Amino acid sequence: MITTNINSAIEALLNHELAAIPTETVYGLAGNAYDDTVIKKIFDLKKRPLINPLIVHIKSESYLNQVAQNIPDKALQLAKRFWPGPLTLLLEKKPHISNLLTAGKVTVAVRVPKHPVTLAVLEKLEFPLAAPSANPFGSISPTSAEHVFNYFGQSLDVILDGGECELGIESTIIGFEGNEAILYRLGSLSIEEIEQEVGTVRLNTKNDKNPEAPGMLSRHYSPKTDTYLTNNVSEMIRHFEGKKIGLLLFKNKFQNSGITTQEILSTNGDLTEATKNMYAALHRLDNANVEVIIAEKLPNHGLGQTINDRLQRAVQK
Ligand code: TXA
Ligand code: MG
Repeated sequence: MITTNINSAIEALLNHELAAIPTETVYGLAGNAYDDTVIKKIFDLKKRPLINPLIVHIKSESYLNQVAQNIPDKALQLAKRFWPGPLTLLLEKKPHISNLLTAGKVTVAVRVPKHPVTLAVLEKLEFPLAAPSANPFGSISPTSAEHVFNYFGQSLDVILDGGECELGIESTIIGFEGNEAILYRLGSLSIEEIEQEVGTVRLNTKNDKNPEAPGMLSRHYSPKTDTYLTNNVSEMIRHFEGKKIGLLLFKNKFQNSGITTQEILSTNGDLTEATKNMYAALHRLDNANVEVIIAEKLPNHGLGQTINDRLQRAVQK
């Protein structure tokens, strides 16, 4: 059920049930991070492989040492600068953090979400919330309560509605080797912003064999409809002549093509706006009864790099 009543989410979570929660990035499928039976329910409902660990959401930076230890200086610096916000840190876990939650890893993924509704929920709880994105494994992430409802319907008692997600793409994931920062997942916080704070960050976002962050599996975030990513939209349209096409475009409508299903991410060419609109546009195209989706590559810098990364994974066969 979709609700704006914070108390019903709190009640469900205290009762060892799940609740979908809004964050500034995407909606999360939340449960008590200290309870393995709850964690198992999250994996089951998402149909997520148990090798793919969950992110722990805490109420504030001061709670960090309840879940992590031996925290590198750069991690603290980033936490102070960007929390609450779209940054997830991979840190050495405290022994009591469940191996089910971390998929047997010695690290735990942690972040403080920046959404007043979810922060109000966390404030009332004595445990942190494990919450992956609230979509079935591999599909497009949800940026509204309706998206979550369309995926899980009545099998989820509480979907806490906090409006459309402000940022629209998942958090950026940073881990550490010694004091070196390594980026495992491109996200709503651009590399440029992170590097301004802690200097050069090493990119490690492609690792199918032994994924450090399995969100980096090549195929992920995928529509059901056949989707193609290109720099040359008109050529791709010609290639699919005769088929019903939907277009996902950066800023300009495709004129004179007769194609009526077109999604423009930002008419001003603003990458922040494009990021916010991306998943919702993909959801709409996927439900628009087209046979193919053709997506246009964005300028590959800042958040454009994050969007291109998601689209690349969405089109992977
Ligand atoms: O913005 C977000 O991060 C959203 C909201 C709900 O907070 N959450 C999210 O969770 O995107 P999820 O589970 O869809 O993606 C988390 C990613 C996964 O790719 C997972 O493999 C990786 O984080 N991860 C979690 N714990 C990890 C760990 N200990 N080591 C490496 N990767 C980890
Ligand atoms: Mg996800």
